[in-house]
Amino acid sequence: MQDSIIRLESATVDVVIKTHPFAEILYWGKHLRHFSSQNTGSLVRPVANGRLDIDVPLTLMAEPGHGLFGTPGIEGHRQAQDGSPVFKTVGVERQGQTLTINAKDELAGLRLVSEIHLDGSGVLTVRHGVTNLRAQAWQVDRLAVTLPVAERARDVMAFHGRWTREFQPHRLTLEHDSFVLESRRGRSSHEHFPALMTGTPAFSEMHGDVWGVHLGWSGNHRLRAEVKTDGRRYVQAEALYLPGEMALEEGETLWTPRLYASYSACGLNGMSQQFHRYLRENIIRFPANKPRPVHLNTWEGIYFDHDPAYIMKMADEAAALGVERFIIDDGWFKGRNDDYAALGDWYLDEKKYPQGLKPVIDHVKTKGMEFGIWVEPEMVNPDADLYRAHPDWVLAMPGYPQLLGRHQLVLNLNIPQVFDYLLERMSWLLGEHDIDYVKWDMNREIVQPAHEGKAAADAQTRQYYRLLDTLRVRFPHIEFESCSSGGGRIDYEVLSRCHRFWPSDNNDALERNTIQRGMSYFFPPEVMGAHIGNKHCHATFRQHSIAFRGLTALFGHMGLELDPVSADAQEREGYRHYAALYKQWRTLIHSGMQWRLDMPDATTLAQAVVAQDRRQALLLVSQLAMPDYTLMSPLRMAGLEADAQYRIMLLDHPDIRITGEGGHTMRKLPEWMLTPQTVSGEWLMEAGLALPVLDPESAILIGFERV
Ligand code: DGJ
Repeated sequence: MQDSIIRLESATVDVVIKTHPFAEILYWGKHLRHFSSQNTGSLVRPVANGRLDIDVPLTLMAEPGHGLFGTPGIEGHRQAQDGSPVFKTVGVERQGQTLTINAKDELAGLRLVSEIHLDGSGVLTVRHGVTNLRAQAWQVDRLAVTLPVAERARDVMAFHGRWTREFQPHRLTLEHDSFVLESRRGRSSHEHFPALMTGTPAFSEMHGDVWGVHLGWSGNHRLRAEVKTDGRRYVQAEALYLPGEMALEEGETLWTPRLYASYSACGLNGMSQQFHRYLRENIIRFPANKPRPVHLNTWEGIYFDHDPAYIMKMADEAAALGVERFIIDDGWFKGRNDDYAALGDWYLDEKKYPQGLKPVIDHVKTKGMEFGIWVEPEMVNPDADLYRAHPDWVLAMPGYPQLLGRHQLVLNLNIPQVFDYLLERMSWLLGEHDIDYVKWDMNREIVQPAHEGKAAADAQTRQYYRLLDTLRVRFPHIEFESCSSGGGRIDYEVLSRCHRFWPSDNNDALERNTIQRGMSYFFPPEVMGAHIGNKHCHATFRQHSIAFRGLTALFGHMGLELDPVSADAQEREGYRHYAALYKQWRTLIHSGMQWRLDMPDATTLAQAVVAQDRRQALLLVSQLAMPDYTLMSPLRMAGLEADAQYRIMLLDHPDIRITGEGGHTMRKLPEWMLTPQTVSGEWLMEAGLALPVLDPESAILIGFERV
């Protein structure tokens, strides 16, 4: 019996895997300066009394047949037979930092291929493929990727959310059993973003060991953090299959979605920085290498009220404000006057656009802007010609009443005619018009999805990918945004097909602070749409200064979500100012290293971006509520060059009463705001910078420049 130990390594993270007789991850943690396979002998476990007489390995596939009583990595059967596979390694290939382990269970008639790759960024990606080797179908109930984490990883962090309030973090200490999050909504979902983080007690942005995982999948999913009764811990992630949904015919292979995993010895920032680097180097691909343009999206400006003459006026104003891409949202197609009708009828509304879209597009282009348009291909309203002609094109379990969501139903993309119709209509739109950008929306959850009576949530997700992929091949110059009532479909698999996310329908700067911060754990700012909304937020009816709105939209891909024609002069001046500020700093924001800084006062959020060469940095401090303390604690910067000197610059502060005259939370400004100062990086990181006392719902932008 071969007993081979393999180490995959990167500058920050190592993974040590025992490949025979069963594949087992022995170590996933900090990069080891010295390693010898003999070292792993120190981990050979004793056998406890009162249980099985053998050592139970926590194998890569977590098969119960090894005596592992936790949640298995595989569940299925062949007509009630072959339901407890145990895979034995039959071959191992290594190419650089990629390991492919081939395993088989001859008795169950199954083959398993495990692909494990450790990227230079420190991100580990894992997926499994299971093949049925027998004539009769093997019914797959579950197929997961399981990764062991250290016993000290006692705290768990995940996100909850809802429409207009995505990416809200919550934490718990897990001592026994499982923490599970599931989406059965047919999308990655606002509620259960497919990720979880586990780490040493009280891990924070800057401190602690953290193991973070994300499942790259846009459909139903399940993630779990589990403590075995022997104290060992693991995280597990899978596509969630509905009853009877997944079966493998002879020779067929089912691949799990990829699990992306990032271990950090220095808190959540280290985890995120590795994910960001991984995405920048491997997943995010813009059609052209150019700065992320300032958007204007028409939705909250005019909703369904499309008048080409007025839209052209909006374009004039937008261009004057510095907008670089103008996007017409919902309401342009036949009969779409509200959200009750017309989805599916992807023909131009000739009543609204008697001359076609071309004059508007030409106008936008003559103003030097790109043109974008909104679609929601996967949906149909019952009040639409498409539905009247083809009521059977709906994704539905036959015989059950169909539940509506936003007055709409879901089209069954598994029906070839539906797929072809959508491909033809989208190709007409994108082929016949000079379109640079598509906002692809998906505005409802999926209930009882079925194709020919069989559950088809997984198949629907795959067909969505295929439709988008086919269009991307046909129109490679077009950028796509993934929107799903805001942040309902955000994950790495869809990111490999699109260029931007719409994180939330909530443009309230206060809410956006937490939503965007939550999203930043897994995504870099250049793919996070961040728009300045109306003065009176349409989602919450709160009112915020343009400064707070502008600065909140800065650390993302900035846009405007409003009508610039009806805005007053002061507001317009604000839009112009923040678009210009964004243009000034976007290269740094979209390429630098992001840091979320731990603040003792939970009412303050601080984040920084430091250039890769550490010559410049930006720091944004946002005050969400009335500060708990009368003084802000000195802010300890991160990521600077310790030995370098930095000039501290106040870049944007419009909400602060510089005079210190009463009524606000501060009487006198910190000294560096009055007298220019140059300080060492080490001092800024160890001792810190005194912050002004900010009023609630305001922000300040500070710059650091190496001298
Ligand atoms: C939901 C999106 O999130 C909004 O931004 C907007 O595009 C509407 N749909 C349009 O119906």
